[in-house]
Amino acid sequence: MPFLSPLPAPTLIQLTPKHADACLQLDRAALGGIWSLAQWQRELEEEARPGLGLRQGQELLAMASGWLVVDELHITLVAVAPGQRRRGLGRRLLEELMQAGLRRGATRATLEVGAGNGPGKGLYEALGFRTAGIRHGYYRSGEDALIQWVNLKR
Ligand SMILES: CC(C)(COP(=O)(O)OP(=O)(O)OC[C@H]1O[C@@H](n2cnc3c(N)ncnc32)[C@H](O)[C@@H]1OP(=O)(O)O)[C@@H](O)C(=O)NCCC(=O)NCCS
Repeated sequence: MPFLSPLPAPTLIQLTPKHADACLQLDRAALGGIWSLAQWQRELEEEARPGLGLRQGQELLAMASGWLVVDELHITLVAVAPGQRRRGLGRRLLEELMQAGLRRGATRATLEVGAGNGPGKGLYEALGFRTAGIRHGYYRSGEDALIQWVNLKR
């Protein structure tokens, strides 16, 4: 059997407008396409909206983005390519985004997650997020959204 060397760990990158196409593809594959290309371009060019990705070669495996509102980091999106899940990529990316938020003055982070999104809830719970409220029927499907918060730690 030929010797196969292990793949190197994915590289952390700052997402910029040049990544808009890759983000759109990953959005479609992982989230069913929540933003258009124009929305991705706007998201990636805004200074107050930090975005991070994990890349292997030219392939974007995972992405996370947030919005800095005074001392709060609002996490707007986290997505890992379907074939790359349960490898710790989502956790690594969110931890990096939370540290980036902390460096830029955020003291707390918040997000919304579908009440039926087991993987999302599992990931956020593992990172210390706790539910503080519910938005009933928040999603187009009628699903409730849980509003979650965590204090950011140095
Ligand atoms: C949610 C999501 C980002 C998790 O990414 P991931 O890279 O697979 O997660 P990780 O491997 O870093 O998991 C970290 C921890 O989260 C929890 N977790 C992750 N996936 C889980 C699942 N399917 N069920 C239960 N817990 C889960 C576990 O505690 C896990 O730790 P462990 O593997 O040591 O048990 C990924 O499933 C995804 O992209 N889903 C579709 C998009 C989505 O729903 N995004 C979140 C809402 S915007």
